[in-house]
Amino acid sequence: MTERNPIKLFHHMAIDVSDMEKSIAFYRKLFGYKLTERHEAGEVEAIPVELAFLRLRNSNHHDMVLSHTPGKKYRARNAQDNIEGTTLFHHLAWQCHDRDAWLEMQAQVKEMDIEIIRGPVVHSAYDPRGEGSWGENESFYVLDPDGHRLEIFCDMASIDEDGTFVSYEGERIEEAKVAEV
Ligand SMILES: [Fe+2]
Repeated sequence: MTERNPIKLFHHMAIDVSDMEKSIAFYRKLFGYKLTERHEAGEVEAIPVELAFLRLRNSNHHDMVLSHTPGKKYRARNAQDNIEGTTLFHHLAWQCHDRDAWLEMQAQVKEMDIEIIRGPVVHSAYDPRGEGSWGENESFYVLDPDGHRLEIFCDMASIDEDGTFVSYEGERIEEAKVAEV
C-alpha cells in the first residue's frame, strides 16, 4: 500500500448566488477572477442551475464556480452569523503573496466600498500581536453580495516535518506543534 494520500489537493468550491451578474462582477473586480465559461440552467438536462466557471490561475479551467437556481427564492445570509440555521460553509479564504499584497487588497476593498467585518487581525497564540486565535496568519474578512464570508490573509505559518510550526519568516516556533504529525 502506498503511503501517498491519493488526494492531490482541494480544488474548487461552488457557491450559490442570488444574482449572477452581481457576483461575477464582484469576484472579477475584487480578486481578479476571469470567466472561463457561463451556461444557462438546463443546457444539459441533468443540470438545472445556471453556472459560471471562474479561474484565478490562468491554466485552471476553474477554481471557483458560481451557481444560481432560476425561480429560487433567495434570502441573504445573516452578515454577522452566517451559519445560523444552515449547514453551509463558514468562510472561504484567499492567500495573498505577502503582506504588501495583503495591504493592497485592503486598499482595493476600501476602493470598492466593501466593509471589513472582522480584522485586520493577527491569528496567533505566539506572535505578540496575536489575538490568541489559530493558523498563524494576518487576516481580514468581508462579505460577498450574498453574505458569504470571505477571508483574505497573508503570512500563514507552515508545518515542519516533525510537526513544529514555522513562521512565515522561516523561524520554528518550538512551543507550537500540530495535533497529528
Ligand atoms: Fe480561515
